[in-house]
Amino acid sequence: MSGKRIFSGVQPSGNLTIGNYLGAIQQFVRLQEDGEEAFYCVVDLHAVTVPQNPEELREKTVEVAALYMACGLNPKKSTLFVQSHVPAHAELGWLLQCVARIGELNRMTQYKEKGGGKDTVNVGLYTYPVLMAADILLYQATHVPVGEDQKQHLELTRDIAERFNKQFGELFTLPEPMIGEVGARIMALDEPQKKMSKSAKNEMSRIILLDSPEMILKKIKRAVTDTENEIRYDPVRKPGISNLLSIYSLFSGESIDALERKYAGVQYGPFKNDLAEVITDSLSEIQRRYRELSREEVIASLQEGAEKASEVAEQTLRKARELFGFLPKTNQLLSEKL
Ligand code: TYM
Repeated sequence: MSGKRIFSGVQPSGNLTIGNYLGAIQQFVRLQEDGEEAFYCVVDLHAVTVPQNPEELREKTVEVAALYMACGLNPKKSTLFVQSHVPAHAELGWLLQCVARIGELNRMTQYKEKGGGKDTVNVGLYTYPVLMAADILLYQATHVPVGEDQKQHLELTRDIAERFNKQFGELFTLPEPMIGEVGARIMALDEPQKKMSKSAKNEMSRIILLDSPEMILKKIKRAVTDTENEIRYDPVRKPGISNLLSIYSLFSGESIDALERKYAGVQYGPFKNDLAEVITDSLSEIQRRYRELSREEVIASLQEGAEKASEVAEQTLRKARELFGFLPKTNQLLSEKL
């Protein structure tokens, strides 16, 4: 333990992929093993920035929490909770909207990609990064483990925190992103120039944590590679094979150098068969634990988590309200000040 405080979140907006696992959740588990104090959230308020079916959203929220646990997060060690169970997120989100600048949000690339510049896109998609800043700052997080795609949002979070501290008084800790060297950007199997995404149209583009061994093999066999015959890590010239090597390395713990040596002179076919087996080994363990969890157990953990999270979040929010100059509700505070 090193006195770090960790915060991170995953959206319940689809089936979690090995990109989410290797870019984020695997790091969460490592940090828990290091004994760090950590808060891991299922960010349902973020998920509704694109249309959701209410029944499915409820199911996915429980599923993501269950997968957190199946991947190795222990609710007795790390605080696991649902964002909408702690209303402080929405309230600080609003307050920070009055600190963030339109110019800053205009520069956010994810909004442009998801919104496609249409006038009919909802405002939540635009202000989404400010809510993310609120998530992190409420817990005074020192470190935020995320994939590469969240880096710009983390920079914005730091800018908002710094401006708030200057304008209103020191309150927020400036968080550091924790982005892994390998795995920070797992690419799509069908288009290795693009990030693997849980919401992409083509299901063959991703492996989800609950895929069967047959499905994993089928998807890996179809993964786009190149016309050469060499298993070599070169993300620019050989993005497909390099992505598969990264995935192999992260699941097996073997370095990319060692894998290049192991597969020197081997054809893509046998390499892909081995990779499918390595992925299946790790995922079947996660799936076994997932099946053992009961819905009641997961929901009870989330309730406990929300209580613990609320205590921390409320403290920060109370100070933020005071610094903004809002009239307190309690008589005691009133008589002290007047
Ligand atoms: P989300 O739900 O899109 O993704 C969850 C986490 O998975 C990482 N990730 C990837 N990493 C490597 N390769 C990929 N192909 C890949 N796809 C996704 C993401 O970087 C992320 O770490 N805005 C966030 C959720 C969020 C959040 C927060 C995160 C809301 N509030 C506060 C950290 C702190 C998001 O949409 O993640």
